Amino acid sequence: MSCPHLNLLDPDSYANGIPHDFFEQQRREQPLYWQEEPNTGVGFWVVTKYDDLQYISKHPEQFSSAARTALSREMSEEDIMLQRMMLINMDPPDHLKFRRIVNKAFVPKIVESKLAHIRDMAKDIIDKVARRGECEFVSEVAAELPLQVICELMGVAREDRHMIFHNTNIMIGADDPDLSTTEDEGKMAAAEIFAYGYKILENYRNNPNDNDNLINMLVSGTVDGEQLTDDEFSQFFLILLVAGNETTRTVTANGMKLLIENPDQLQQLVDDPSLIANAVEEFLRYEPAVMQFRRTATEDVEVGGQLIKSGDKVLMFYTSVNRDEDYFDAPHQFDIHRSNAKDHRSFGIGEHFCLGSHLARLELRVMFEEIIPRLRNPKFVEKPNFMRSDFLNSMKTMPITFDPETA
Ligand code: HEM
Repeated sequence: MSCPHLNLLDPDSYANGIPHDFFEQQRREQPLYWQEEPNTGVGFWVVTKYDDLQYISKHPEQFSSAARTALSREMSEEDIMLQRMMLINMDPPDHLKFRRIVNKAFVPKIVESKLAHIRDMAKDIIDKVARRGECEFVSEVAAELPLQVICELMGVAREDRHMIFHNTNIMIGADDPDLSTTEDEGKMAAAEIFAYGYKILENYRNNPNDNDNLINMLVSGTVDGEQLTDDEFSQFFLILLVAGNETTRTVTANGMKLLIENPDQLQQLVDDPSLIANAVEEFLRYEPAVMQFRRTATEDVEVGGQLIKSGDKVLMFYTSVNRDEDYFDAPHQFDIHRSNAKDHRSFGIGEHFCLGSHLARLELRVMFEEIIPRLRNPKFVEKPNFMRSDFLNSMKTMPITFDPETA
């Protein structure tokens, strides 16, 4: 190896963006390799190739999400026990039993039935900024649609949505000094959302109705004949709010950044909006919102020519597999016409494939169908400001200008 290993769990390794040159070299020279981690003492395998990520994601019996959670950070046994109540940190057979409870709310037919309403929300968001000719794109545009949609689905009152926004920001921003200073603050933010979940449940029990589909599903759903406990309900509430909110915002913000940087491709989308759906797939491929998720090997298993030992920590880098040259031609080129852009792995694959992928795709497409014809000639006011993180490729702020709408 000519290149010393970068510690991919050090947020500073991303200070200048995702280290694509490093990943490219690893894919070529040592696609699955062991990395010592001095800060925690828990080393990990780095997965950089598409096929290896695919194998690991599709074999949950060999690569567990429950053992040490799907998150890369090290936690106490007590915290792991709590985390295991969340879908994302479960293994088969429990995982599917829990997933089935809410799965129906996210199938394409149900998601598409919300199209007109989601479009109205997107229009309102753009109405608020279009005449001004400037906005802080992340908070005023990118954050709003996913936040409004998921809060509505989860029965969060409109006036409380900024509390959710604030707390989910703190939860994901543990490594960013602007967002959170201590781990305890992150825990308190999660506790506030958790407590709000109890309130929603209590309100629902006092006033049961058929309108709140997702709450209905959670309250009436059963696992092995048993209803969810209050804690399980609140954990579901928490994961849906966090997962449905930050990720879609991030792709919207990164997508806009890519269009500002590539005005020729933006013009093609203005001229032919039918290209927007594929452009969204290319945003997802090029700038995945989630950089990595974790698994823990449950047995000795050979993958990518390496022997992974039972108990080993394994990190799958979506940032790298989406640029695997064996799957994507000229992978570092941003190209809205890429014929296989949709094959990205930004939603994962296999057992834990993103539950909200149809909803996220719909929100992204509709949002850009509103943005592209109305926020014309967008330009940066200053450089986009990214969150300090080894987990999420999130933007904090991106002030922009555009031609003020006159009509
Ligand atoms: C662009 C937006 C999104 C991205 C990039 C994204 C990404 C991901 C990824 C990579 C996973 C796989 C986790 C793993 O393999 O361990 C996942 C799972 C999940 N996502 Fe998303 N997500 C997005 C939007 C959403 C939305 C809108 C929702 C819900 C409303 C959602 C809910 C979930 C849930 C509940 C899981 C766990 C599924 C399971 O464990 O079975 N996501 N997401």
